[in-house]
Amino acid sequence: MAGPVAIVAAMQEELGALLAAMPDEQRVRVAGRDFWVGHLHGQAVVAVLSRIGKVAAATTATVLLERFGVRAIVFTGVAGGLAPGVRVGDVVVATKLLQHDLDASPIFPKYEVPLTGHARFAADTAISDALAAVVAGVLRDPVALLGQAVVDDFGLHAPRLHRGLLVSGDRFVSTAAESAALRRDLPDALAVEMEGAAVAQVCHDYRVPFAAVRTISDRADDAAHADFLRFVAVVASRYSLAVIGAWLAGLSSPARSG
Ligand code: ADE
Repeated sequence: MAGPVAIVAAMQEELGALLAAMPDEQRVRVAGRDFWVGHLHGQAVVAVLSRIGKVAAATTATVLLERFGVRAIVFTGVAGGLAPGVRVGDVVVATKLLQHDLDASPIFPKYEVPLTGHARFAADTAISDALAAVVAGVLRDPVALLGQAVVDDFGLHAPRLHRGLLVSGDRFVSTAAESAALRRDLPDALAVEMEGAAVAQVCHDYRVPFAAVRTISDRADDAAHADFLRFVAVVASRYSLAVIGAWLAGLSSPARSG
């Protein structure tokens, strides 16, 4: 497989930690976004801030594929927990992704992306398995990564890895009523965010592998906004860097020459 790997996050805080770890990044500006081209753990990487929402994410993915020829896209960031056991500080590695706000019924079945025959887009199994293995290792000792004070502050004592359906929509879900409706309509959804399923759809169109790993920042309820930005900066950014870094370090090819 040729081409760099794309690492995408929606928020500046997450990308910042990753960029700081890239020794040689060069900025290429396309469509109002900064694409950071360089290496991380010896792997050729393009890191980019997608901005928030499905259209912003789809634009970013298309540029990554068309202009940078990336061989895979991995989305990292945060999500709101939906399923009962998915708690703040847990991590979800997606197996499938769906747009929860897409409904062209009765012309097409609810959630189906018209003319594709798909509502659920599969994440790449090999990349997702590798990410999940790394996440399991990281979550075994959250104190080592975050320090005792942060673990105590956010109550992150026994974080868990979950694998399954991640749903995306152009809405920050911040009421208990909204998250209850999503649980009712999509009972197997683990978590909700605002970009992943859009990127999965673009990658499906281009036949390029895609994976998503999201730290749970809130329970998508009335308290969802409370500590959100602090959680992203203090917890999720470190999870992202540790997970993506360990995953890249474990990739065998193509390695950087020199
Ligand atoms: N990303 C993180 N938390 C979220 C929420 N509650 N709704 C949508 N996207 C999110």
